[in-house]
Amino acid sequence: MEIYAIKGGNPLVGEVEIGGAKNAALPIIAASLMTDETVHIDNVPDVRDTNVLLKSMESMGVIVDRNARHRVTINASHIHDYIADDDNIKKIRASYYLIGAMLGKYKEAQVALPGGCNIGSRAIDQHIKGFKALGAEVTIEYGLIKAKADKLVGSHIYMDVVSVGATINVMMAAALAEGTTIIENSAKEPHVVDLANFLNSMGANIKGAGTDVIRIKGVSKLHGSDYTIIPDQIEAGTFMFAAAITRGDVTVKNVIPKHLESISAKLLEIGCEIEESDDAVRVVSSKPLIHTHVKTLPYPGFPTDMQPQIAVALALSQGTSIVTESIFENRFKYVDELTRMGANIKVEGNTAIIDGISKYTGASLMAPDLRAGAALVLAALSAEGFSTVEDIHYIERGYEDFPLKLQGLGAQIEKVDSDRELRKFKLKIG
Ligand code: EPZ
Repeated sequence: MEIYAIKGGNPLVGEVEIGGAKNAALPIIAASLMTDETVHIDNVPDVRDTNVLLKSMESMGVIVDRNARHRVTINASHIHDYIADDDNIKKIRASYYLIGAMLGKYKEAQVALPGGCNIGSRAIDQHIKGFKALGAEVTIEYGLIKAKADKLVGSHIYMDVVSVGATINVMMAAALAEGTTIIENSAKEPHVVDLANFLNSMGANIKGAGTDVIRIKGVSKLHGSDYTIIPDQIEAGTFMFAAAITRGDVTVKNVIPKHLESISAKLLEIGCEIEESDDAVRVVSSKPLIHTHVKTLPYPGFPTDMQPQIAVALALSQGTSIVTESIFENRFKYVDELTRMGANIKVEGNTAIIDGISKYTGASLMAPDLRAGAALVLAALSAEGFSTVEDIHYIERGYEDFPLKLQGLGAQIEKVDSDRELRKFKLKIG
Protein backbone atom coordinates (compact mmCIF):
# COMPACT_ATOMS: atom_id res chain seq x y z
CA MET A 1 0.00 0.00 0.00
CA GLU A 2 1.60 3.28 -1.10
CA ILE A 3 2.41 5.86 1.55
CA TYR A 4 4.47 9.07 1.76
CA ALA A 5 7.66 8.86 3.86
CA ILE A 6 8.82 12.27 5.09
CA LYS A 7 11.82 13.62 7.02
CA GLY A 8 10.93 17.10 8.26
CA GLY A 9 13.08 20.13 9.00
CA ASN A 10 14.08 21.49 5.58
CA PRO A 11 12.74 24.95 4.73
CA LEU A 12 11.16 24.72 1.25
CA VAL A 13 12.99 27.00 -1.17
CA GLY A 14 12.62 27.54 -4.91
CA GLU A 15 10.05 27.74 -7.70
CA VAL A 16 7.14 25.41 -8.48
CA GLU A 17 4.95 25.29 -11.64
CA ILE A 18 1.24 25.21 -10.79
CA GLY A 19 -0.98 22.95 -12.91
CA GLY A 20 -4.49 23.38 -14.33
CA ALA A 21 -7.39 23.81 -11.90
CA LYS A 22 -9.00 20.43 -11.04
CA ASN A 23 -12.29 22.11 -10.12
CA ALA A 24 -12.41 23.92 -13.47
CA ALA A 25 -11.26 20.90 -15.51
CA LEU A 26 -14.05 18.66 -14.16
CA PRO A 27 -17.05 20.76 -15.34
CA ILE A 28 -15.24 21.72 -18.57
CA ILE A 29 -14.57 18.06 -19.42
CA ALA A 30 -18.22 17.21 -18.67
CA ALA A 31 -19.46 20.19 -20.73
CA SER A 32 -17.40 18.94 -23.71
CA LEU A 33 -20.13 16.38 -24.42
CA MET A 34 -22.61 19.22 -25.08
CA THR A 35 -21.49 19.43 -28.72
CA ASP A 36 -21.09 16.80 -31.46
CA GLU A 37 -18.01 18.65 -32.68
CA THR A 38 -14.47 18.08 -31.40
CA VAL A 39 -13.21 19.90 -28.31
CA HIS A 40 -9.53 20.39 -27.45
CA ILE A 41 -8.64 21.22 -23.85
CA ASP A 42 -5.20 22.26 -22.62
CA ASN A 43 -3.71 22.48 -19.09
CA VAL A 44 -5.81 19.51 -17.88
CA PRO A 45 -4.26 18.32 -14.60
CA ASP A 46 -3.19 14.66 -14.58
CA VAL A 47 -4.95 13.80 -11.31
CA ARG A 48 -7.24 10.95 -10.28
CA ASP A 49 -10.51 12.95 -10.36
CA THR A 50 -10.10 14.19 -13.94
CA ASN A 51 -8.81 10.79 -15.13
CA VAL A 52 -11.81 9.02 -13.56
CA LEU A 53 -14.26 11.40 -15.25
CA LEU A 54 -12.59 10.94 -18.64
CA LYS A 55 -12.67 7.14 -18.21
CA SER A 56 -16.31 7.22 -17.29
CA MET A 57 -17.20 9.33 -20.33
CA GLU A 58 -15.31 6.88 -22.54
CA SER A 59 -17.49 4.06 -21.16
CA MET A 60 -20.51 6.04 -22.41
CA GLY A 61 -19.09 6.13 -25.94
CA VAL A 62 -17.34 9.50 -25.83
CA ILE A 63 -14.09 9.46 -27.82
CA VAL A 64 -11.28 10.71 -25.56
CA ASP A 65 -7.75 11.18 -26.88
CA ARG A 66 -5.05 12.13 -24.37
CA ASN A 67 -2.65 13.46 -26.99
CA ALA A 68 -0.32 14.81 -24.29
CA ARG A 69 -0.18 14.58 -20.49
CA HIS A 70 -2.08 17.87 -20.08
CA ARG A 71 -3.97 18.03 -23.39
CA VAL A 72 -7.13 16.07 -24.19
CA THR A 73 -9.34 15.90 -27.28
CA ILE A 74 -13.00 14.94 -26.79
CA ASN A 75 -15.73 14.04 -29.29
CA ALA A 76 -19.18 13.01 -28.01
CA SER A 77 -20.91 12.56 -31.39
CA HIS A 78 -21.10 8.78 -30.88
CA ILE A 79 -22.26 8.69 -27.27
CA HIS A 80 -24.36 5.51 -26.93
CA ASP A 81 -26.29 6.09 -23.76
CA TYR A 82 -27.11 8.79 -21.28
CA ILE A 83 -26.31 6.68 -18.24
CA ALA A 84 -23.12 7.21 -16.20
CA ASP A 85 -23.12 4.42 -13.66
CA ASP A 86 -19.80 2.63 -13.89
CA ASP A 87 -17.77 1.97 -10.72
CA ASN A 88 -15.47 4.85 -11.60
CA ILE A 89 -18.11 7.52 -11.58
CA LYS A 90 -19.27 6.70 -8.04
CA LYS A 91 -15.84 7.66 -6.71
CA ILE A 92 -15.97 11.36 -7.53
CA ARG A 93 -18.17 14.25 -6.49
CA ALA A 94 -18.03 15.93 -9.88
CA SER A 95 -19.87 13.05 -11.59
CA TYR A 96 -23.02 15.11 -11.14
CA TYR A 97 -21.76 17.60 -13.74
CA LEU A 98 -22.68 14.97 -16.32
CA ILE A 99 -26.33 15.54 -15.42
CA GLY A 100 -26.30 19.24 -16.30
CA ALA A 101 -24.36 18.55 -19.48
CA MET A 102 -26.53 15.64 -20.71
CA LEU A 103 -29.81 17.24 -19.61
CA GLY A 104 -28.84 20.33 -21.59
CA LYS A 105 -27.94 18.45 -24.73
CA TYR A 106 -30.06 15.27 -24.70
CA LYS A 107 -32.85 16.37 -22.33
CA GLU A 108 -32.21 13.26 -20.28
CA ALA A 109 -29.53 11.88 -17.96
CA GLN A 110 -28.96 9.13 -15.42
CA VAL A 111 -25.90 9.42 -13.18
CA ALA A 112 -24.83 7.46 -10.10
CA LEU A 113 -25.15 9.51 -6.92
CA PRO A 114 -21.85 11.33 -6.34
CA GLY A 115 -19.01 10.24 -4.03
CA GLY A 116 -16.15 12.56 -3.12
CA CYS A 117 -14.44 13.61 0.11
CA ASN A 118 -16.43 13.12 3.31
CA ILE A 119 -16.26 16.69 4.58
CA GLY A 120 -19.96 17.16 5.14
CA SER A 121 -23.44 16.28 3.90
CA ARG A 122 -22.70 17.29 0.26
CA ALA A 123 -26.41 17.87 -0.49
CA ILE A 124 -27.64 18.28 -4.08
CA ASP A 125 -31.04 19.87 -3.43
CA GLN A 126 -30.04 23.12 -5.16
CA HIS A 127 -28.98 21.24 -8.27
CA ILE A 128 -32.37 19.49 -8.35
CA LYS A 129 -34.19 22.76 -7.65
CA GLY A 130 -32.47 24.34 -10.68
CA PHE A 131 -33.16 21.42 -13.03
CA LYS A 132 -36.84 21.36 -12.00
CA ALA A 133 -37.12 25.13 -12.50
CA LEU A 134 -35.96 24.59 -16.10
CA GLY A 135 -38.76 22.06 -16.60
CA ALA A 136 -37.01 18.75 -15.90
CA GLU A 137 -38.47 15.86 -13.96
CA VAL A 138 -35.86 14.68 -11.42
CA THR A 139 -35.98 11.46 -9.41
CA ILE A 140 -33.48 9.58 -7.25
CA GLU A 141 -33.86 5.81 -7.32
CA TYR A 142 -31.57 2.79 -7.07
CA GLY A 143 -28.62 5.10 -6.36
CA LEU A 144 -29.11 7.01 -9.60
CA ILE A 145 -30.13 10.61 -10.18
CA LYS A 146 -32.49 10.63 -13.19
CA ALA A 147 -33.41 13.84 -15.01
CA LYS A 148 -35.66 14.12 -18.06
CA ALA A 149 -37.44 16.93 -19.91
CA ASP A 150 -39.47 17.27 -23.11
CA LYS A 151 -37.84 20.67 -23.36
CA LEU A 152 -35.96 23.04 -21.07
CA VAL A 153 -37.30 26.57 -20.67
CA GLY A 154 -35.34 29.45 -19.13
CA SER A 155 -36.29 30.39 -15.57
CA HIS A 156 -35.41 32.80 -12.73
CA ILE A 157 -33.66 30.71 -10.05
CA TYR A 158 -32.64 31.93 -6.61
CA MET A 159 -30.06 29.65 -4.94
CA ASP A 160 -30.84 29.12 -1.22
CA VAL A 161 -27.13 28.55 -0.55
CA VAL A 162 -24.10 29.68 -2.53
CA SER A 163 -23.15 26.44 -4.28
CA VAL A 164 -20.29 26.01 -6.77
CA GLY A 165 -21.67 22.71 -8.04
CA ALA A 166 -25.28 23.82 -8.36
CA THR A 167 -24.32 27.08 -10.09
CA ILE A 168 -22.19 25.18 -12.62
CA ASN A 169 -24.72 22.39 -13.18
CA VAL A 170 -27.67 24.72 -13.78
CA MET A 171 -25.54 26.95 -16.01
CA MET A 172 -24.77 23.98 -18.26
CA ALA A 173 -28.40 22.85 -18.56
CA ALA A 174 -29.60 26.44 -19.12
CA ALA A 175 -27.07 27.03 -21.92
CA LEU A 176 -29.24 24.93 -24.28
CA ALA A 177 -32.65 25.81 -22.82
CA GLU A 178 -35.20 27.96 -24.68
CA GLY A 179 -35.20 31.54 -23.44
CA THR A 180 -33.26 33.25 -20.67
CA THR A 181 -32.26 31.86 -17.28
CA ILE A 182 -31.17 34.04 -14.40
CA ILE A 183 -29.29 32.44 -11.51
CA GLU A 184 -29.30 34.64 -8.38
CA ASN A 185 -27.01 34.09 -5.37
CA SER A 186 -24.65 32.20 -7.68
CA ALA A 187 -21.12 31.09 -6.74
CA LYS A 188 -18.32 33.38 -8.00
CA GLU A 189 -15.30 31.03 -7.84
CA PRO A 190 -12.70 31.29 -10.65
CA HIS A 191 -13.72 27.83 -11.84
CA VAL A 192 -17.34 28.99 -12.27
CA VAL A 193 -16.06 31.81 -14.50
CA ASP A 194 -13.78 29.39 -16.36
CA LEU A 195 -16.71 27.13 -17.21
CA ALA A 196 -18.81 30.09 -18.37
CA ASN A 197 -15.92 31.22 -20.61
CA PHE A 198 -15.58 27.69 -21.98
CA LEU A 199 -19.31 27.43 -22.76
CA ASN A 200 -19.19 30.87 -24.42
CA SER A 201 -16.23 29.66 -26.51
CA MET A 202 -18.60 26.91 -27.72
CA GLY A 203 -21.25 29.49 -28.72
CA ALA A 204 -23.20 29.84 -25.48
CA ASN A 205 -24.46 33.23 -24.33
CA ILE A 206 -23.60 33.64 -20.64
CA LYS A 207 -23.07 36.95 -18.87
CA GLY A 208 -22.29 37.85 -15.27
CA ALA A 209 -20.23 34.79 -14.26
CA GLY A 210 -18.07 35.87 -11.32
CA THR A 211 -20.88 37.97 -9.89
CA ASP A 212 -23.86 36.76 -7.86
CA VAL A 213 -26.28 37.14 -10.80
CA ILE A 214 -25.61 35.09 -13.93
CA ARG A 215 -27.74 35.56 -17.07
CA ILE A 216 -27.84 32.70 -19.58
CA LYS A 217 -29.57 33.19 -22.95
CA GLY A 218 -30.23 29.67 -24.27
CA VAL A 219 -28.92 28.80 -27.75
CA SER A 220 -29.99 25.95 -30.06
CA LYS A 221 -26.60 24.22 -30.28
CA LEU A 222 -22.97 24.45 -29.25
CA HIS A 223 -19.89 24.01 -31.46
CA GLY A 224 -16.36 22.72 -30.85
CA SER A 225 -13.66 24.70 -29.06
CA ASP A 226 -9.95 24.84 -28.25
CA TYR A 227 -9.65 25.96 -24.64
CA THR A 228 -7.00 26.29 -21.90
CA ILE A 229 -7.94 25.76 -18.27
CA ILE A 230 -7.00 28.33 -15.60
CA PRO A 231 -4.25 27.56 -13.05
CA ASP A 232 -5.27 25.81 -9.83
CA GLN A 233 -5.94 28.38 -7.08
CA ILE A 234 -5.85 25.73 -4.34
CA GLU A 235 -2.70 23.93 -5.49
CA ALA A 236 -1.02 27.36 -5.61
CA GLY A 237 -2.33 28.24 -2.15
CA THR A 238 -1.10 24.92 -0.76
CA PHE A 239 2.48 25.60 -1.93
CA MET A 240 2.27 29.19 -0.68
CA PHE A 241 1.39 27.92 2.79
CA ALA A 242 4.15 25.31 2.49
CA ALA A 243 6.60 28.26 2.51
CA ALA A 244 5.01 29.67 5.68
CA ILE A 245 4.85 26.32 7.48
CA THR A 246 8.46 25.35 6.73
CA ARG A 247 9.81 28.92 7.11
CA GLY A 248 10.97 28.87 3.50
CA ASP A 249 10.93 30.96 0.32
CA VAL A 250 8.68 29.59 -2.43
CA THR A 251 7.60 31.12 -5.73
CA VAL A 252 4.46 29.63 -7.31
CA LYS A 253 4.59 30.11 -11.10
CA ASN A 254 1.91 30.09 -13.82
CA VAL A 255 -0.77 31.49 -11.47
CA ILE A 256 -3.35 34.28 -11.61
CA PRO A 257 -2.47 36.41 -8.51
CA LYS A 258 -5.98 37.91 -8.46
CA HIS A 259 -7.37 34.43 -7.62
CA LEU A 260 -4.96 34.18 -4.67
CA GLU A 261 -5.71 37.53 -3.01
CA SER A 262 -7.43 36.16 0.12
CA ILE A 263 -4.62 33.62 0.56
CA SER A 264 -1.85 36.24 0.15
CA ALA A 265 -3.69 38.56 2.56
CA LYS A 266 -3.71 35.90 5.32
CA LEU A 267 -0.03 35.07 4.73
CA LEU A 268 0.82 38.76 5.17
CA GLU A 269 -1.28 38.83 8.36
CA ILE A 270 0.70 35.97 9.91
CA GLY A 271 4.05 37.63 9.13
CA CYS A 272 5.12 36.40 5.67
CA GLU A 273 6.36 38.65 2.86
CA ILE A 274 4.56 38.49 -0.49
CA GLU A 275 5.95 39.54 -3.88
CA GLU A 276 3.54 39.47 -6.83
CA SER A 277 4.30 39.57 -10.56
CA ASP A 278 1.86 39.05 -13.44
CA ASP A 279 1.90 35.23 -13.33
CA ALA A 280 3.78 34.36 -10.13
CA VAL A 281 3.64 34.95 -6.37
CA ARG A 282 6.63 34.63 -4.02
CA VAL A 283 6.13 33.85 -0.32
CA VAL A 284 9.00 34.38 2.12
CA SER A 285 8.70 33.33 5.75
CA SER A 286 11.71 34.62 7.66
CA LYS A 287 10.11 35.66 10.98
CA PRO A 288 8.11 33.64 13.57
CA LEU A 289 4.49 33.25 12.47
CA ILE A 290 1.86 35.40 14.19
CA HIS A 291 -1.62 34.25 15.24
CA THR A 292 -4.76 35.48 13.45
CA HIS A 293 -8.43 34.60 12.98
CA VAL A 294 -9.90 33.24 9.74
CA LYS A 295 -13.40 32.28 8.55
CA THR A 296 -13.90 30.30 5.35
CA LEU A 297 -16.31 31.92 2.89
CA PRO A 298 -17.38 31.58 -0.74
CA TYR A 299 -15.06 33.35 -3.22
CA PRO A 300 -13.58 35.96 -2.93
CA GLY A 301 -13.44 35.05 0.78
CA PHE A 302 -10.84 32.68 2.23
CA PRO A 303 -11.41 29.29 0.52
CA THR A 304 -12.68 26.34 2.53
CA ASP A 305 -10.25 24.20 0.50
CA MET A 306 -7.41 26.12 2.18
CA GLN A 307 -8.77 25.73 5.73
CA PRO A 308 -6.61 22.73 6.79
CA GLN A 309 -3.48 24.36 5.36
CA ILE A 310 -3.91 27.63 7.28
CA ALA A 311 -4.75 25.70 10.46
CA VAL A 312 -1.42 23.84 10.18
CA ALA A 313 0.37 27.21 9.93
CA LEU A 314 -1.60 28.77 12.81
CA ALA A 315 -0.78 25.80 15.05
CA LEU A 316 2.87 26.93 14.67
CA SER A 317 2.06 30.63 15.23
CA GLN A 318 2.69 32.60 18.41
CA GLY A 319 -0.56 33.16 20.33
CA THR A 320 -4.13 31.90 20.01
CA SER A 321 -5.88 31.70 16.62
CA ILE A 322 -9.47 30.89 15.68
CA VAL A 323 -10.48 29.06 12.49
CA THR A 324 -14.19 29.07 11.60
CA GLU A 325 -15.41 26.68 8.88
CA SER A 326 -18.61 28.17 7.49
CA ILE A 327 -19.05 26.02 4.35
CA PHE A 328 -18.83 22.36 5.41
CA GLU A 329 -19.81 20.75 8.71
CA ASN A 330 -17.15 18.07 8.97
CA ARG A 331 -13.85 19.58 7.86
CA PHE A 332 -11.75 19.32 11.05
CA LYS A 333 -11.06 15.57 10.93
CA TYR A 334 -7.31 16.27 10.54
CA VAL A 335 -7.10 17.90 14.00
CA ASP A 336 -6.67 14.54 15.75
CA GLU A 337 -3.71 13.81 13.46
CA LEU A 338 -2.12 17.20 14.20
CA THR A 339 -2.62 16.61 17.94
CA ARG A 340 -0.44 13.52 17.61
CA MET A 341 2.29 15.81 16.23
CA GLY A 342 2.03 18.01 19.33
CA ALA A 343 -0.52 20.58 18.15
CA ASN A 344 -2.78 22.26 20.71
CA ILE A 345 -6.21 22.60 19.03
CA LYS A 346 -9.73 22.44 20.46
CA VAL A 347 -12.65 21.97 18.06
CA GLU A 348 -16.06 23.27 19.15
CA GLY A 349 -18.71 22.83 16.43
CA ASN A 350 -17.48 24.60 13.30
CA THR A 351 -14.72 26.44 15.13
CA ALA A 352 -11.15 25.41 15.99
CA ILE A 353 -9.33 27.27 18.79
CA ILE A 354 -5.59 26.94 18.23
CA ASP A 355 -2.83 27.67 20.77
CA GLY A 356 0.46 27.86 18.84
CA ILE A 357 3.38 25.56 19.63
CA SER A 358 7.03 25.97 18.66
CA LYS A 359 7.33 22.85 16.51
CA TYR A 360 5.65 19.64 15.38
CA THR A 361 7.23 16.24 16.00
CA GLY A 362 6.97 13.52 13.38
CA ALA A 363 4.26 10.81 13.57
CA SER A 364 2.44 8.15 11.51
CA LEU A 365 -0.49 10.02 9.94
CA MET A 366 -3.65 9.16 7.98
CA ALA A 367 -5.00 11.53 5.32
CA PRO A 368 -8.73 12.00 6.11
CA ASP A 369 -9.56 13.79 2.82
CA LEU A 370 -7.93 15.57 -0.11
CA ARG A 371 -7.00 18.99 1.31
CA ALA A 372 -6.45 17.81 4.90
CA GLY A 373 -4.11 15.14 3.53
CA ALA A 374 -2.04 17.78 1.75
CA ALA A 375 -2.00 19.91 4.91
CA LEU A 376 -0.71 16.99 6.99
CA VAL A 377 2.15 16.54 4.50
CA LEU A 378 3.06 20.20 5.04
CA ALA A 379 3.01 19.68 8.82
CA ALA A 380 5.27 16.62 8.46
CA LEU A 381 7.69 18.61 6.26
CA SER A 382 8.13 21.12 9.08
CA ALA A 383 8.17 18.55 11.92
CA GLU A 384 11.24 17.41 13.78
CA GLY A 385 11.96 13.81 12.78
CA PHE A 386 10.27 11.28 10.59
CA SER A 387 6.63 10.90 9.51
CA THR A 388 4.52 8.70 7.25
CA VAL A 389 1.22 9.63 5.61
CA GLU A 390 -1.23 6.87 4.65
CA ASP A 391 -4.38 7.00 2.46
CA ILE A 392 -2.51 9.17 -0.01
CA HIS A 393 -5.08 8.25 -2.70
CA TYR A 394 -7.11 11.17 -1.32
CA ILE A 395 -4.20 13.54 -1.97
CA GLU A 396 -3.60 12.18 -5.46
CA ARG A 397 -7.20 13.04 -6.38
CA GLY A 398 -6.23 16.69 -6.60
CA TYR A 399 -2.43 17.11 -6.60
CA GLU A 400 -0.33 16.11 -9.59
CA ASP A 401 3.23 14.89 -8.78
CA PHE A 402 2.90 16.21 -5.21
CA PRO A 403 6.08 14.50 -3.82
CA LEU A 404 8.06 15.40 -6.95
CA LYS A 405 7.12 19.09 -6.77
CA LEU A 406 7.96 19.16 -3.05
CA GLN A 407 11.32 17.44 -3.69
CA GLY A 408 12.02 20.20 -6.23
CA LEU A 409 11.75 22.63 -3.32
CA GLY A 410 14.17 20.67 -1.14
CA ALA A 411 11.68 18.46 0.72
CA GLN A 412 12.78 15.03 1.93
CA ILE A 413 9.68 13.08 0.84
CA GLU A 414 9.19 9.87 -1.11
CA LYS A 415 6.26 7.68 -2.12
CA VAL A 416 7.07 4.15 -0.91
CA ASP A 417 4.98 0.98 -1.20
CA SER A 418 6.76 -1.52 1.04
CA ASP A 419 8.40 -1.73 4.48
CA ARG A 420 11.64 -2.45 2.68
CA GLU A 421 11.42 0.81 0.71
CA LEU A 422 10.49 2.61 3.93
CA ARG A 423 13.64 1.27 5.63
CA LYS A 424 15.73 2.27 2.61
CA PHE A 425 14.32 5.83 2.80
CA LYS A 426 15.12 6.04 6.53
CA LEU A 427 18.69 4.78 5.98
CA LYS A 428 19.22 7.15 3.07
CA ILE A 429 17.87 10.16 4.96
CA GLY A 430 19.54 9.21 8.24
C1 EPZ B 1 -16.94 22.36 -4.78
O1 EPZ B 1 -17.69 21.37 -4.11
C2 EPZ B 1 -15.52 21.83 -4.80
N1 EPZ B 1 -15.48 20.55 -5.51
C3 EPZ B 1 -15.01 21.64 -3.36
O2 EPZ B 1 -13.63 21.31 -3.46
C4 EPZ B 1 -15.12 22.97 -2.61
O3 EPZ B 1 -14.76 22.74 -1.27
C5 EPZ B 1 -16.55 23.51 -2.70
O4 EPZ B 1 -16.96 23.60 -4.08
C6 EPZ B 1 -16.68 24.88 -2.07
O5 EPZ B 1 -15.81 25.77 -2.73
C7 EPZ B 1 -15.47 20.58 -6.86
O6 EPZ B 1 -15.50 21.63 -7.47
C8 EPZ B 1 -15.40 19.25 -7.55
P1 EPZ B 1 -20.79 23.55 -2.90
P2 EPZ B 1 -19.31 21.46 -4.15
O7 EPZ B 1 -21.94 23.04 -3.68
O8 EPZ B 1 -19.74 22.02 -5.46
C9 EPZ B 1 -24.11 23.06 0.44
C10 EPZ B 1 -11.73 20.03 -3.26
O9 EPZ B 1 -11.01 20.00 -2.26
N2 EPZ B 1 -24.99 22.62 -0.67
O10 EPZ B 1 -20.27 24.91 -3.19
O11 EPZ B 1 -19.84 20.16 -3.71
C11 EPZ B 1 -23.01 22.04 0.70
O12 EPZ B 1 -23.49 21.03 1.55
C12 EPZ B 1 -13.22 19.99 -3.09
O13 EPZ B 1 -11.32 20.17 -4.44
C13 EPZ B 1 -26.33 22.41 -0.40
O14 EPZ B 1 -26.81 22.57 0.73
O15 EPZ B 1 -19.57 22.54 -3.02
C14 EPZ B 1 -21.94 22.89 1.32
O16 EPZ B 1 -22.23 23.04 2.70
C15 EPZ B 1 -13.61 19.60 -1.66
N3 EPZ B 1 -27.14 22.00 -1.43
C16 EPZ B 1 -22.11 24.25 0.63
O17 EPZ B 1 -23.41 24.23 0.05
C17 EPZ B 1 -26.65 21.81 -2.70
O18 EPZ B 1 -27.44 21.45 -3.60
C18 EPZ B 1 -21.10 24.50 -0.48
O19 EPZ B 1 -21.15 23.40 -1.35
C19 EPZ B 1 -25.28 22.04 -2.95
C20 EPZ B 1 -24.47 22.44 -1.91
